[in-house]
Amino acid sequence: MQFVSKSSPIANITSPCLILPVYSKGKQSKLIETLDSDLQTLISTVLKQGDASGKPGNTLLLQAPKDGKLKRVLLVGLGEQGKTRAEDFNSAVCAAFTALKSLPVKTVCCALLDTDVTGKDSEWKVRQLILSARETMYQYTETLTTSAPEAHRLTTCQLLACGNLKPSVIDKAANIASSIANGINSAKKLANLPGNICTPSYLAEHAKALGKQHKSLKITVLEEAQMEKLGMGSLLSVSRGSRQPAKLISLEHKGAAASQKPIVLVGKGLTFDAGGISIKPSAAMDEMKYDMCGGASVLGVMQMCAELNLPINVVGVVPASENLPDGDANKPGDIVTSMAGLTIEILNTDAEGRLILCDALTYSAKFKPDVVIDIATLTGACVVALGKHATGLLANNDDLANELLDAGQKAGDKAWQLPLWDEYKPQLKSNFADLANIGGPGAGTITAACFLSRFTEDYRWAHLDIAGTAWKSGADKGATGRPVHMLSQFILDRC
Ligand code: BES
Ligand code: MN
Ligand code: ZN
Repeated sequence: MQFVSKSSPIANITSPCLILPVYSKGKQSKLIETLDSDLQTLISTVLKQGDASGKPGNTLLLQAPKDGKLKRVLLVGLGEQGKTRAEDFNSAVCAAFTALKSLPVKTVCCALLDTDVTGKDSEWKVRQLILSARETMYQYTETLTTSAPEAHRLTTCQLLACGNLKPSVIDKAANIASSIANGINSAKKLANLPGNICTPSYLAEHAKALGKQHKSLKITVLEEAQMEKLGMGSLLSVSRGSRQPAKLISLEHKGAAASQKPIVLVGKGLTFDAGGISIKPSAAMDEMKYDMCGGASVLGVMQMCAELNLPINVVGVVPASENLPDGDANKPGDIVTSMAGLTIEILNTDAEGRLILCDALTYSAKFKPDVVIDIATLTGACVVALGKHATGLLANNDDLANELLDAGQKAGDKAWQLPLWDEYKPQLKSNFADLANIGGPGAGTITAACFLSRFTEDYRWAHLDIAGTAWKSGADKGATGRPVHMLSQFILDRC
């Protein structure tokens, strides 16, 4: 769906549907006074009767009483006038587009930018409107035949330039938002695909296809033999239990001078995590197809950087593998040697994410990074600690942590910092190797990050644990595309 600015007065607008804000209390929008008198009468009647409550997310579809330029008006509640909060605005947009899904209209004209949102500027409104609309319109279709949803008819949404909002400001913000939404949708699509389709090779092919589409992107895919030469014994030990060969995918977006040190994003691309010999319980094991969501988010962010041709250097690294039980799989007690030279005692084969990430993090140093951020569905403990609302954040540098927290806050794709104190590090002691891959029952998210921190000592680094935020379970099971928005904001803030 396309979003374009529209700057004519309402009286001149021809549209099958106008989306208009209404409020539960206080003054109604001045825009209503610019409609023809029959519509004004109808709107004041439904407001008086309480058919349109004006509460956040309430909608009412009106047919224009006369055959005029506007065929329909969709009234959308935004709460009390002057007191609309960010979450009210988002739920209003979701409700509006949910209502539009079942209408036979191809284009709409949306006047929701007329609403003031507490503490937010116009760019935020354009961004959030587009992201919430695209989120509402998202459909998974890839493996559906007879149960495939009917395709939406809506293709264009005109964003009415209300008040003193310039159309150029709207179009600029819309362009950025659309690319972020494209990145989110790509990440969701990859994540929602089943493990038998979305394999490490599939991720590698997806990256190569991105490289063909965008000339700013350079793609490199390392095969197992090349990883072997680099000494990635930890990563390769995980993929040994799988018939699918591991891939180490790199995507380099070159948008600035070669002398500018890149941001390196490393995403866990575990396309299915059965736990290995330390096998997981079978309940909800299907959801472990989502164990590549970190990698998918990196691919989504790289796509966004390339689409917008951002003037910055960003590298994406995705170690991709499966984790399955097999005669050749890692066994508890096995000791492997990482690319960094540190030996690791694998006390639990289900703590495999850190085993593939540690070699990818060591490899990342070759890009001479300014900062490295890894994104991983790393620990069930993070879901216990933070639930599904906040991504866990741990870092060896507080400025970098604050930059990410701030980006998450702005994007509404939030993270919460946990401590990475030295006190936790002894939990990873092993009698037989330099470190163990698990740290006991306490502070699982922190000890996982402590493990990774041993491989990131040479650069500024942050770790995002998205185990709780990358997908939703239950009736609306599906990937969220998080934290593509947070990372996009982080990168945009640096441009
Ligand atoms: N991919 C899982 C983490 C996970 C579990 C994410 C559930 C989302 C929901 C990871 O590979 C894993 O299995 N971690 C173990 C670590 C433990 C063995 C120390 C876990 O969290 O149980
Ligand atoms: Mn695991
Ligand atoms: Zn895993």
